Amino acid sequence: MKKIDPCTLVIFGAAGNLSRRKLIPGLFRLDMAGRLPEGMVILGCSIEPRSREAWIDEVCQMLEPLFPNGMDSTAKARFCARLHYQPILPNDELAYEKLSQRFDDRSTFTSNIAYYMAVRPTEFPRIIESLGKVGLLKEHAGWRRVVIEKPFGSDLLSAQSLQKTLYRHLNEPQIFRIDHYVGKGTVQNIMVFRFANLMLEPLWNRNYIDHVQITHSETLGVEGRADYYEGAGALRDMIQSHLLQLFTLVAMEPPVSMAAEHLRDEKVKVLKAVRPITQSAVNAHAFRGQYASGQINGQPVPGYREEPGVKPDSVAETYAALKLYIDNWRWAGVPFYLRTGKRLAEGASAISIRFKNPPQDLFRNTRCDPSHPNWLLLGIQPNDCLKMEMNVKVPGLDLSTRTISLDAAYRKDDDVDSDAYEGLLLDVMEGDHSMFLRYDEVESSWRVVDPVLKVWAMEREFINTYAAGSWGPRGTYRLFDREDQFWRHSLEIEGANLQAY
Ligand code: BG6
Repeated sequence: MKKIDPCTLVIFGAAGNLSRRKLIPGLFRLDMAGRLPEGMVILGCSIEPRSREAWIDEVCQMLEPLFPNGMDSTAKARFCARLHYQPILPNDELAYEKLSQRFDDRSTFTSNIAYYMAVRPTEFPRIIESLGKVGLLKEHAGWRRVVIEKPFGSDLLSAQSLQKTLYRHLNEPQIFRIDHYVGKGTVQNIMVFRFANLMLEPLWNRNYIDHVQITHSETLGVEGRADYYEGAGALRDMIQSHLLQLFTLVAMEPPVSMAAEHLRDEKVKVLKAVRPITQSAVNAHAFRGQYASGQINGQPVPGYREEPGVKPDSVAETYAALKLYIDNWRWAGVPFYLRTGKRLAEGASAISIRFKNPPQDLFRNTRCDPSHPNWLLLGIQPNDCLKMEMNVKVPGLDLSTRTISLDAAYRKDDDVDSDAYEGLLLDVMEGDHSMFLRYDEVESSWRVVDPVLKVWAMEREFINTYAAGSWGPRGTYRLFDREDQFWRHSLEIEGANLQAY
């Protein structure tokens, strides 16, 4: 456990969704676990005027439902003592001067300050400029760090422009670009699984792996976020960030060490080796769709265009699938299929790796089921597991075969769960960048998806639809390289639901 300096965490957008659902509960759990330093202060900033007392009441209301058996009163009192509030009223030109003056009170606020941007991405540059103008990003006395939520820009150009704004006021070590997927234990486990075990390394390449599928599916719809989602869509919202992070972890070379720069060097190398998708190849590499009305868990749900705040002729994609190739020695010729969608049949994230068939099918006349290649399945959520599908002999006189799943649920009963944000918040306070994105990583991710975004932005007349509760639009099979490649929908052999669309 590293020692953390006393610090002030300023949350911009403190009353917003991310803060309520993730940051405040995460900080409270860290406090209960004794992981927040003595003297740490949390300053909520938002556009509404509120007193400190009213803010503390509001925070307690956010937390209470998460602890149905009641909150520990000592922990609650300790946490509340850390809470302060500062309104940043939209028309107040002196708002940041006032913020700066608050920090002069050294009996309350520490000289180390982290600013968390839990606001709309369009607000990032304005807030950074304003903090910079009043000198709140200068590291005279203590450290100053800024946490930038995803998406970092909305395409390559806007990411470059956001980066310029940041560099006017900050150095790279002060910037923490967050992608909460990298903070998930099951995602970090991809590295442990690959680099703490030798067994699979000889197989982890083009000689043995047929293809890789990375899936994030949700049953949820747009959930009141239409104002953001209309301009984003699934490719920006999930693939450019979270799914490309999973992709780099599966495909990267072993890093020299687990130090931040070594790790990030290897991730960037993968992204740079992705074969660029030319505009004329976009339709062969990418597929998009939008959910129409349908049923989720037996209940009727509206289509995307009927959701509040969505334009009736919107072509924002709620489903996106992408085929990528990595032109390097390890992966040449191996397709990586990435897909994500809202209002799909199930909510799950998984990495499914299909191995090649043995060179000869010696048991074709004696097996019970059709030939089944080996699959390695890494369940990310909600089922965090590791499964390996292999063929074995059926007991009895005949030499018949069937497929079994070696199922390693690696969770033990007394394992303590933590949310991705908890670990990442601690990393910010510790100044550890390993689980945060370096700028070249973000820029390389945009380079991967930018050609697709450009073509989709021009093709605004039509979008394929899929019924809510299904596995997505028909026709996505055209992404597959061969007829024997199918989407893997489940981690179970029985319900593998290998489907072409
Ligand atoms: C967010 C996206 O970054 O990740 C959401 O903006 C998505 O649209 C969410 O639902 C998924 O995260 P998780 O942790 O719930 O899988």
